[in-house]
Amino acid sequence: MKKIILLMVSAFMAVGMLTSCGGGGEKVANLENGKAVYDKACIACHWKGVAGAAALTDKARWEEIAAKGMTVLKEHALKGYTGTHGVMPEKGTCVDCTEDDLFDAISYMMHEAGVTPAK
Ligand code: HEC
Repeated sequence: MKKIILLMVSAFMAVGMLTSCGGGGEKVANLENGKAVYDKACIACHWKGVAGAAALTDKARWEEIAAKGMTVLKEHALKGYTGTHGVMPEKGTCVDCTEDDLFDAISYMMHEAGVTPAK
């Protein structure tokens, strides 16, 4: 009996590790959720490029952003980021957004800009 429980526990842990790390940055973006998050929060600045934010039509700017890689960008979206263009607020003002929500929203904006995110 003890063995079975132990087996189950380790199986759960393995699954948990796989999902939390997304198998090493292999998480597939949910663009539908990304659009919902974007429409709620990011649109205020990123639609037309208000306050120095990259507009969705500014492909060159998104190419530069994408080159930083998703790991860095997720970190910048989560904690906020001040660059040469302006101030990206913490979580893009979406206080109840999860890391995955932010990942989806970034992926959605890149998708709209016609840019493929680097890993
Ligand atoms: C109040 C305006 C504002 C809102 C709202 C906003 N952003 Fe930004 N964001 C900015 C600005 C300004 C920059 C550019 C910073 C720079 O490069 O100087 C930026 C840059 C970024 C970058 C690029 C960071 C980098 O390292 O170059 C990402 C990714 C990003 N925003 C994601 C988001 C997401 C996702 C949301 C919605 C959840 C969001 N932003 C909402 C203003 C905003």
